[in-house]
Amino acid sequence: MSAAPAPVRVAVVGAGLMGREVASAFGRWFALLDCPVRPELTAVCDLNPKALDWFRQVPTVRHFESDYRALLARPDIDVAYVALPHDLHEAAYLEVIRSGKDLFAEKPFGIDLAAARRVRDEAARLGRFVRVSSEFPFLPAANRMFKLIKSGELGRLIEIRAAFHHSSDLDPNKPINWKRQVAHCGAAGVMNDLGMHVAHLPLRLGWKPKTVHATLQKIYRTRPDGRGGTAPCDTWDNASLHTTVEIGGETVPMTLEMKRMAPTETNTWIFEALGTDRGVRHSTKEPKTLWTYSRGAEQTWTKVDLGFDTPFKTITGAIFEPGFPDVLMQMWAAFLAERAGALGGRFGCATPDEAVAHHEIWAAALESQRGQSVVTL
Ligand SMILES: NC(=O)c1ccc[n+]([C@@H]2O[C@H](COP(=O)([O-])OP(=O)(O)OC[C@H]3O[C@@H](n4cnc5c(N)ncnc54)[C@H](O)[C@@H]3O)[C@@H](O)[C@H]2O)c1
Repeated sequence: MSAAPAPVRVAVVGAGLMGREVASAFGRWFALLDCPVRPELTAVCDLNPKALDWFRQVPTVRHFESDYRALLARPDIDVAYVALPHDLHEAAYLEVIRSGKDLFAEKPFGIDLAAARRVRDEAARLGRFVRVSSEFPFLPAANRMFKLIKSGELGRLIEIRAAFHHSSDLDPNKPINWKRQVAHCGAAGVMNDLGMHVAHLPLRLGWKPKTVHATLQKIYRTRPDGRGGTAPCDTWDNASLHTTVEIGGETVPMTLEMKRMAPTETNTWIFEALGTDRGVRHSTKEPKTLWTYSRGAEQTWTKVDLGFDTPFKTITGAIFEPGFPDVLMQMWAAFLAERAGALGGRFGCATPDEAVAHHEIWAAALESQRGQSVVTL
């Protein structure tokens, strides 16, 4: 019997919400049946000792650091996953790729377009494998919609809508955090925060907007600062972008929505493409359900429960419904498999070019908002 291949040694930089999700996904890697690569979380870095302490229960972690430069100097790390506030992305990402490690970068891949371009170009110059986090295309329904659209079965596209909605910011007493401050989140605000979730599938389908008209909203302008006072909350809360894309020589309207104040919504990812022959629709409110229609004398939506039909097969029963931790694990399997040249035709993670392209849309949206104009990309 041949020895199992050595694991890919991963370091988490930024041990917050997302860093812990990664540890959780790696901890149940044995649930995957056909992923050719195995990760091992070996190191973790955070400025906050309490955040680091959580990782002491992860048996494979052997290095705990507060300075990511010290961590990146270690030879026993192959990949760094960086989940830091957006204003720190560029410096940290450049540090990772210059240290000789590969990079799994959190969205939005730099605080703005210029930062994203600099990181993309440096990674290409140094030949590093770099991908960007975006989980929702790994949902069974998203995967099925992607394949149906690619097959041409939808006919001539009539309209497209992609959206990501939250409602937790409706509470005016929710204290400020870095995601609600331009200095840390970026001028694009909610588009930096939620935009990759919305743009990834359209961009992979080649649907990059030619024109953008944006309506951006700031709803609460201050928030409690957590110390008894108030602090400015200066990011855009909601963004509705009316765009056009060229598909098969035709101009098709595509709406992109990113909202922190969408009453009743909790991390809802929505995608809909309507064509002359068929249509597809999915929302994470119904996580295992795909809606499709076919043209006929009367059009009706057909509801199919896909269950756990993930790109990488798992031990999980086919009838169970998938959730965010499942698609995060699938995304990591795709990252590691593609890095090893073994993706096998499955959907791949967002690329640095796609991250740059999504920043180009947000830059156009900011320009559109400033002049209340239609901006051509
Ligand atoms: N893919 C997704 O679905 C998803 C969801 C949430 C957040 N994110 C992204 O993940 C990134 C981080 O977001 P989060 O929600 O985990 O944030 P968070 O605030 O929960 O965690 C960030 C962590 O970084 C640490 N940190 C700050 N400066 C540091 C430094 N110089 N060195 C080391 N550690 C430092 C903080 O102490 C904190 O623990 C962002 O880019 C965000 O857009 C992605």
